[in-house]
Amino acid sequence: MKKIKLGAQTFVYPMPAFLIGADVAGKANFMTAAWSGIANSSPPMATVALQHHRHTLKGIKENGTFSINVPSVDQVRETDYCGIVSGARKDKTGDCAFEVFYGELETAPLIAQCPLNLECKVIHMLNLGSHTLVVGQIVETHVSEACTTDGLPDVAKVKPLIYSAGAEKAYHGVGAALGLAFSAGKELK
Ligand SMILES: Cc1cc2nc3c(=O)[nH]c(=O)nc-3n(C[C@H](O)[C@H](O)[C@H](O)COP(=O)(O)O)c2cc1C
Repeated sequence: MKKIKLGAQTFVYPMPAFLIGADVAGKANFMTAAWSGIANSSPPMATVALQHHRHTLKGIKENGTFSINVPSVDQVRETDYCGIVSGARKDKTGDCAFEVFYGELETAPLIAQCPLNLECKVIHMLNLGSHTLVVGQIVETHVSEACTTDGLPDVAKVKPLIYSAGAEKAYHGVGAALGLAFSAGKELK
């Protein structure tokens, strides 16, 4: 297969489209983040890479807490809005009619309409250049009961949004399962 070099780029598929929450000066704010993921299992940790001037980052530094909210396919408009408007100028929580609740951490706002919510407390902050990498310990996970099967999140019910960068910048849903993880590869053993 012929390959074309693109230089040092940040394209990987898929990328999530999470809503990162933080209280900024006592007000819940949410921003869209694609550069985020799970980083450790014991203790459970997640990361998010934020440009230094993000209003959300101000709140994360203020309280040492943040949330990761997983929007579903019916939240495309809200997710995109939180990625193009700053909480420094607008009340995104009100504009999106987000129902906010709090869990164990009293300063990590969670969105009730998002099927999955992770509460995180900051463990590390690393200045990487353009972005601050925030490493958070996940202290609690909330899932909408209707989006579970046998008590666990079910991707077919969560219907998470996926962000794609590259030839198009767009949101997608997940497709059908193509094989069982930790199992399909056994055929090649
Ligand atoms: C799909 C999408 C993904 C984004 N991912 C990131 C990200 O990973 N890190 C980041 O700093 N900004 C990201 N942004 C931009 C911020 O969400 C945007 O600047 C937002 O307005 C910041 O809000 P705030 O100022 O209220 O914190 C993304 C925007 C979109 C639309």
